[in-house]
Amino acid sequence: MAEEPPHKDVVIGQFTRQAEGYARLIGAMSGSDRQSAFRAIVDARPDDTMLDVCCGPGTLALDLAPFVSKVTGFDVTPAMLVQARAAQARAAQAKRDVDNVEWRQGDVYALPFEAASFSLVTCAAAFHHITDPRAAFQELVRVCRPGGRIVIRDVTPAAQKSAAYDRMEKLRDPSHIHALTPWELARLGEGSAVSAPVLRPGIAADLALDGILAASFPEVCTIAEIRAMFLEDALSGEDLLGFNARLLDGEIRVSFPQTTAKWIRC
Ligand SMILES: C[S@@+](CC[C@H](N)C(=O)[O-])C[C@H]1O[C@@H](n2cnc3c(N)ncnc32)[C@H](O)[C@@H]1O
Repeated sequence: MAEEPPHKDVVIGQFTRQAEGYARLIGAMSGSDRQSAFRAIVDARPDDTMLDVCCGPGTLALDLAPFVSKVTGFDVTPAMLVQARAAQARAAQAKRDVDNVEWRQGDVYALPFEAASFSLVTCAAAFHHITDPRAAFQELVRVCRPGGRIVIRDVTPAAQKSAAYDRMEKLRDPSHIHALTPWELARLGEGSAVSAPVLRPGIAADLALDGILAASFPEVCTIAEIRAMFLEDALSGEDLLGFNARLLDGEIRVSFPQTTAKWIRC
């Protein structure tokens, strides 16, 4: 039997294929209410040195760059960093203040930074791809200086929908591991040198299912299966999958339940 590839390779493979489509989808949210709400929660300050882990196409890093001293965007997928550099070039052309941003490639489990290097460490929409969330969190804590903030935003289905949600997401995107429930997210810092977290429900983006499928490349047969499952869930009105699937003008629309958690490094 063929051995499963290491999960890091699955992530890189998946996000190399997704990079362009994902960048388009997420880039459209740049400057949105959702991003402003996130900026308010992280409490970005002019003297902050910020690390955005799993930065993908760099939308968050570039949105926050004008409000902090320096930003490092960090991701394991080189193709995502290509998108991030392109977005930075476009932002610079549009005269946005983004020349304080640099990009680094690597794995969240071994951040190539000294302890206490940053005053603000963020990570958005990525913990559900991580096989060992506690080990990854420890790394975020290590590179954050005492008094600094660690802020994680991710999809967080309710506990009773968690299994169905994970099954669906793995079908759509094999790099999905497990979306933490709000309670699991809240407990991520237990035993680490951080405060108790402040938790805020996020603003879930309302998206067309077909747009998401076009950006994530499941097999053709799987696309049909996913559509049928969402259609059934939308028609039932029960939200068994946890995506609040609904029909609007004949289109299936979904949203991803989100929570933002913020810890202070002790
Ligand atoms: C869904 S994207 C989110 C990108 C961005 N943070 C956002 O909010 O749009 C997840 C990103 O996490 C990155 N990622 C997943 N596992 C990683 C790991 N172990 N180390 C570093 N980056 C990782 C992927 O390469 C991908 O770019």
